[in-house]
Amino acid sequence: MSTNLNYEKYKSDGSHLGDLLEWVDKRFPATMLWKSQVGEYYAPKNFNFWYFFGSLALLVLVIQIVTGIFLVMHYKPDGNLNANGIPGAFASVNYIMYDVPWGWLVRYMHSTGASAFFIVVYLHMFRGMLYGSYRKPRELVWIFGVLIFLCLMAEAFMGYLLPWGQMSLWGAQVIINLFSALPLIGDPLTIWIRGDFVISDATLNRFFSFHVIAVPLVLLGLIAAHLIALHEVGSNNPDGVEIGDKLDEKGIPLDGIPFHPYYTVKDIVGVVVFLAVFSIVVFFMPEGGGYFLEYNNFFQSDPLKTPPHIAPVWYFTPFYSMLRAMVWNFFWIDAKLWGVIAMGAGVVILAFLPWLDRSPAKSIRYRGPIFKTLLAVFVFAFLILGYLGTKAPGYKFFDTGFLDGDVIAQIFTVYYFLFFLTMPFWSKIDKCKPVPERVTWK
Ligand code: HEM
Repeated sequence: MSTNLNYEKYKSDGSHLGDLLEWVDKRFPATMLWKSQVGEYYAPKNFNFWYFFGSLALLVLVIQIVTGIFLVMHYKPDGNLNANGIPGAFASVNYIMYDVPWGWLVRYMHSTGASAFFIVVYLHMFRGMLYGSYRKPRELVWIFGVLIFLCLMAEAFMGYLLPWGQMSLWGAQVIINLFSALPLIGDPLTIWIRGDFVISDATLNRFFSFHVIAVPLVLLGLIAAHLIALHEVGSNNPDGVEIGDKLDEKGIPLDGIPFHPYYTVKDIVGVVVFLAVFSIVVFFMPEGGGYFLEYNNFFQSDPLKTPPHIAPVWYFTPFYSMLRAMVWNFFWIDAKLWGVIAMGAGVVILAFLPWLDRSPAKSIRYRGPIFKTLLAVFVFAFLILGYLGTKAPGYKFFDTGFLDGDVIAQIFTVYYFLFFLTMPFWSKIDKCKPVPERVTWK
């Protein structure tokens, strides 16, 4: 299929656009790139709504970058107190909220965007698990994805320090202190990260620098790699069937349709629905019930006043629960270090999924009851871990003391890791249905 960017077509129509495109094409492969990546990139014709979340992640990325640029015009990474006894950074965020025209909107879009990013990316990752999109030949697409996820976590963590509220300070205090659990290098490492003996102006300045430039640069590079790798091997689909295996006489996948205009237009549906929900949150509930912006962060940071309950933002809480669940000292490692190991391993283990999964079918549509049951429990466990991570230790589900949150978190942490570690065994013996040769589509 030829696309509109063909300058010969324009030239034959007598349009000057054709001359311009020809001029560009002789100096830069514009038409070639457009065709190979969009106009003649054949995507499976059976994408469903789960396939909206990749383009939505790109949209949120753009929202974050654009609003971030405007925030930086007015924000000051200053941890020291001004003449009114207010830290400069905290005061500059208030200035953005109250005095900068539309500043409140830009700030709420950015803070809501952070949570939206994680919602979209968690759903995007889950889609990968549903349809086995991490399996051969998409291992690198997945691994770049896991690296993106790690970067996103670093980006959100450092961004959260910037408003310099109580949770900014104390959240960073808790997380940076975790590094002190490492043997030998722990204490010097925490001082090196903070740039001081306590969290101070020095810490704020380096986090600012990482948040606005260093991590976004890496993130953009990884996203480019993610998409290049994807376009090299082609997209998976809800049937988990390789469309590249069945080609017509021109070498075009029989079950493929050009990304443009079919999916560029279809993705607009996802964008509209997303923007509607996003706007409702930004305009009517920007605190997101205390989950998107925490109550305690509306108070300026005070290193002499520890909040009674310090919890990270919701998107970190499943992993934070894993950290707290480790209460045993075993081998020569103490509980705190096990906690840090569990938290890190909770993310890193995802990168091994392509090799842990041995099922003959990729998609959940053709996988057996063992996968379906274990995956459902996995989702439940992850959500409960997330919920418990927002609660103080010692939380009980019922007033009677029945169902101790700490014990549940331990059980689900063990389940989380067993799900992955035992996958090579159960994914092999699960009774899969026969996988069709072509995608199913009505
Ligand atoms: C900033 C974050 C991210 C962006 C902008 C992004 C973008 C995209 C886009 C545009 C696609 C193609 C459209 C689609 O299949 O939905 C895609 C596919 C994919 N992404 Fe991401 N992604 C991000 C994070 C992640 C993460 C964290 C993972 C996993 C750990 C991941 C795994 C995948 C996989 C496996 C595919 C191929 C899906 C398939 O073909 O079925 N991505 N990504």
